[in-house]
Amino acid sequence: MTNNHNNTNGRVHGKVALVTGGAKGIGRASARLLAAQGAHVLISDLDVAAGEALAAEIGPAATFIRHDASSESDWRDVMVHLREHHGRLDILLNNAGILLHANIEDATLQDWHKVMRVNADSVFIGCREGIALMKQTGGSIINLSSIAALAGRDDYVAYSASKGAVAALSRSVAALCRRRKYRIRCNTLHPDGVLTDMTRGSFPQGLDPTRMTIDSDPMNRMCLPEDVAASVLFLASDESRAINGVELRIDSGQMIMSI
Ligand SMILES: NC(=O)c1ccc[n+]([C@@H]2O[C@H](COP(=O)([O-])OP(=O)(O)OC[C@H]3O[C@@H](n4cnc5c(N)ncnc54)[C@H](O)[C@@H]3O)[C@@H](O)[C@H]2O)c1
Repeated sequence: MTNNHNNTNGRVHGKVALVTGGAKGIGRASARLLAAQGAHVLISDLDVAAGEALAAEIGPAATFIRHDASSESDWRDVMVHLREHHGRLDILLNNAGILLHANIEDATLQDWHKVMRVNADSVFIGCREGIALMKQTGGSIINLSSIAALAGRDDYVAYSASKGAVAALSRSVAALCRRRKYRIRCNTLHPDGVLTDMTRGSFPQGLDPTRMTIDSDPMNRMCLPEDVAASVLFLASDESRAINGVELRIDSGQMIMSI
């Protein structure tokens, strides 16, 4: 382990990171922070314009690759890129995801399959492919689940189920890597409302969502992508080397307020 605890510029110095869905929102904030802390970041996303713009903004510490995270063949291309350009992978942030507003009475089977494909299949393939490369050197896998996996969200039935799948799959991955002594950790993040494109559309007209963030009211539920990125950085760095199979809520205590 490298001892970077006191080096504020290099908490992931020299590491190679892959951030899926990295062009916007939580992925973008995480890519920026990991690069600022010394990693080389491969940003993958379906949105080529936003991904290329972000890589250009970050500079030599970032590269963009077009990637549908739910496609097995796209994952193969991403892994070829990593093997050819870096020969390793230290940090895998499985972040790509979509939200679908539908409950059990109005969701179609097509809706269900679409959400499960993008949110859960992508993490399954990503973990499998990531482990194959990471197990040579060890590493950290961070999977984006949600508070929806832990609470009962009637309005997001497929989304909640897909995030529950991510949490359970991550525990299996963490256990296998430990049993096989791969030196790969796997943890999940469970944010509540984060102010990104994903949630922006759900605000009633006339309401300014930026006035509902923890910046303006620390007890408010809405946090910023940078608040999630800070936890990504911690779990990606060797500072969290003893943390494996954890489900970290990022919700300002919302879950414990339900009783
Ligand atoms: N925003 C929230 O409140 C919140 C809360 C809990 C969990 N999450 C999770 O965090 C992750 C990121 O969410 P966000 O709020 O930043 O969303 P976002 O919509 O702002 O960004 C998601 C990114 O993923 C990309 N993407 C979508 N489908 C993809 C695919 N098939 N392949 C590759 N890229 C794809 C999009 O182009 C976009 O750049 C998601 O998994 C989401 O479910 C978000």
